Amino acid sequence: MRDVIFHKIYIGADHAGFALKQCLIDFLEENKIIVEDCGALDTTPSNYADLGHQVAFKIKNDPGSGGVLMCGTGIGISMAANRHQGIRAALCHNVYTTQCARAHNDANVLALGSRILDESMAKICLDIFLKTPFEGGRHTVRVNHIDGGI
Ligand code: RB5
Repeated sequence: MRDVIFHKIYIGADHAGFALKQCLIDFLEENKIIVEDCGALDTTPSNYADLGHQVAFKIKNDPGSGGVLMCGTGIGISMAANRHQGIRAALCHNVYTTQCARAHNDANVLALGSRILDESMAKICLDIFLKTPFEGGRHTVRVNHIDGGI
């Protein structure tokens, strides 16, 4: 896959997102993207927040990397990741929200709801997330305000 924004993807999900995570790992590997699976490693009930924090820590320690997070809705796991300075986890549902998450918000984490999206739409969103550049310009100022630059 050419023109990928991130040099590596850290991926994590709770039990509800496990199956979709495995599907997206296959998609990334088929497209020669370096991916690290941060768990969960099976469908045993797990805490979405722990996985969100785990992926956030990995990204903060690896500048230029990105993340993909999944839970049932994508809500809880994105909330946890967004507690971290410099992490911009965007809960996306379709082409438009994913395009805007990258182009306007410079999202470095794509959050998906495994009970919301089917695998086909999840792959479409992931492909857009990987390839859509941040537009910069007026959006740079706005993104800087997210991390408290006001
Ligand atoms: C697990 O049932 C579910 O609550 C979780 O995956 C997620 O949707 C929370 O935000």
